[in-house]
Amino acid sequence: MIPDKAPKEDVFHAGGALKKNAHVPNFENYKELYLKSIENPDEFWGDIAKDFYWKSKHTGQFLDYNFDVTKGEIYIKCMEGATTNICYNVLDRNVHERKLGDKVAFYWEGNEPGDMMKVTYGELLQQVCQFANVLKSQGVKKGDRVSIYMPMVVELVVAMLACVRIGAVHSIVFAGFSAESLCDRILNSQCSLLITADGFYRGDKLINLKVIADDALQKCRDQSFPVQRCIMLKHLAVNIQLSVSPSQIFCVWFRQVPWNPEVDQCWHSLLSGVSDECEPEWCDSEDPLFILYTSGSTGKPKGVLHTVSGYMLYVATTFKLVFDYQPDDVYWCTADIGWITGHSYITYGPLANGATSVLFEGLPTYPDVSRMWEIVDKYQVTKFYTAPTAIRLLMKYGSEPVQKYNRESLKVLGTVGEPINPEAWQWYYSVVGEKRCPVVDTFWQTETGGHVLTPLPAATPMKPGSATFPFFGVVPAILNESGEELEGPCEGYLVFKQAWPGVMRTVYGNHQRFETTYFKKFPGYYVSGDGCRRDTDGYYWITGRMDDMLNVSGHLLSTAEVESALGEHAAVAEAAVVSRLHPVKGESLYCFVTLTDGVGFNRTLEAELKKQVREKIGAIATPDFIQNAPSLPKTRSGKIMRRVLRKIARNERDLGDLSTLADSSVIEQLFLNHCCGAV
Ligand code: PRX
Repeated sequence: MIPDKAPKEDVFHAGGALKKNAHVPNFENYKELYLKSIENPDEFWGDIAKDFYWKSKHTGQFLDYNFDVTKGEIYIKCMEGATTNICYNVLDRNVHERKLGDKVAFYWEGNEPGDMMKVTYGELLQQVCQFANVLKSQGVKKGDRVSIYMPMVVELVVAMLACVRIGAVHSIVFAGFSAESLCDRILNSQCSLLITADGFYRGDKLINLKVIADDALQKCRDQSFPVQRCIMLKHLAVNIQLSVSPSQIFCVWFRQVPWNPEVDQCWHSLLSGVSDECEPEWCDSEDPLFILYTSGSTGKPKGVLHTVSGYMLYVATTFKLVFDYQPDDVYWCTADIGWITGHSYITYGPLANGATSVLFEGLPTYPDVSRMWEIVDKYQVTKFYTAPTAIRLLMKYGSEPVQKYNRESLKVLGTVGEPINPEAWQWYYSVVGEKRCPVVDTFWQTETGGHVLTPLPAATPMKPGSATFPFFGVVPAILNESGEELEGPCEGYLVFKQAWPGVMRTVYGNHQRFETTYFKKFPGYYVSGDGCRRDTDGYYWITGRMDDMLNVSGHLLSTAEVESALGEHAAVAEAAVVSRLHPVKGESLYCFVTLTDGVGFNRTLEAELKKQVREKIGAIATPDFIQNAPSLPKTRSGKIMRRVLRKIARNERDLGDLSTLADSSVIEQLFLNHCCGAV
């Protein structure tokens, strides 16, 4: 499956300078370790586990699983019987065993240039222990779910690690989601407590997070689920403190933030006088660690559940090898902790390795489009991880804003979230990395916990746009529609044949949905939902989603969810949503709406419908286009022909076979109403 020798043609080799100290210095080495990892996973992962702290050792098989629905329930278990605590492993172990107490864990860079602070491993451990004691005093116990809705601040990391220290399960909701989305997630996971902040600035836009959180809590109450406690961090107030007098802070604070004394408590007041020692709760390997919601092609978002030991080993190992982590690195991942990339590669992976990271609150374009490179120079960043959408956005401004800064510290560049087009890859490689730095195009999912297809920077020759080869322990295959495994160069469904430690364990509260979504279509395989091509050299190329999901700026959205948000508006009788290519976002939402009788389509209604989606889901789901569709193309049995709508959205006249279409006059009308405007 992996070629015997790496190809010499059409590939980029940039990892030369890394080879001397690299963990995996060449392709032969990768291949050897890969074979060991799949032929003898117990030994491979067992050796890695020796670096971690276990309160008690595992008893059964190291990795035990069933991926075949025809043979019974799907399960994955890693190191069953062992007990540990991930917070202990990422903090106490670093401070006490590895003597890294004075090492910087995070350089925090605020939205405004000049807002900065740093926190060492020792300080982080103290803060986490204190906040863990606060959570306990609020009645939070092992197994309880805690919802976290916060901006990119150090306290977000403190909150998540405090949860895992006491065995509570965090459910982080990205701070760009709406009140309704937050409420849905709180209800689904039955969270007993919400941790939020007063607000934050995204660029020059103020986000009043507490107002949205309050709205969400009211919606929960309306559905008979009163969340008893809400802890609010004063983030804006603390920032304001830097520039105005104490009396002004007082005014700003009370004028802006709604307060419900029955429920709300202040983060800072709760900490006063609390001990900074807290014995970790020793958890079983398969105890739940966190829930993170991701879009599902049918129904509401799914609560992806990860458990303790397998996730810890997997994210620690992928971080170390994919970024070729070295102790003097300064690593920066620009994702938000509200997404899986932030969970795995801002918090758990880097901290498990004792790394120093940059934690950035702001935007790549604020106050100007050089911000990223200014930060790279400021902290001498060595390993940099971002999304193709950010690269395409910055590429529009040319090389001058990049070249204003020298970026000499950079050694490895990474991308994640969506396929990177070769043009953006080339720009990233040549302009940002000056052809010095390997680009690791990492393919993975919320569900996979960590990277599953990825180059290793010193070992894998790169092809622009290909995520190259599987990570250790991962066995990909490509299937045709009948479920047959294809050999050699081919294209089809990307699946995985055996479990790896970091794969999700279930959909929270709905194991059946887990089995149906990932294992039913092709029994015996984990079905990723992505299409994939394998070339003559054995390289894997992700071709995009095979289901009704689309990827806007690296964020997965379900067309069904957007359709249902539109359908809740009184003016909409029916809606169908498809993707249209977008030069920066990758894909954008193109919505066809059939209006209720007597309602006319106009700009006001269009704006209202966009607002409706923003309010129901969040700003990331805002449609780019809404088109009036007096009727939709349907088969005689009434099924919407999305394939045809996708073509119409792209203004392509070649619609393919229309023999099943019930009424062909619909098509001409749709082309007449087409939103031709430039994106
Ligand atoms: O379609 C793939 C795309 O993002 C999906 C996973 O989205 P999510 O769970 O939100 O996690 C995003 C961050 C890991 C995948 O099913 N995707 C992710 N990375 C890549 C990618 N597509 C192509 N190349 C990638 N490197």
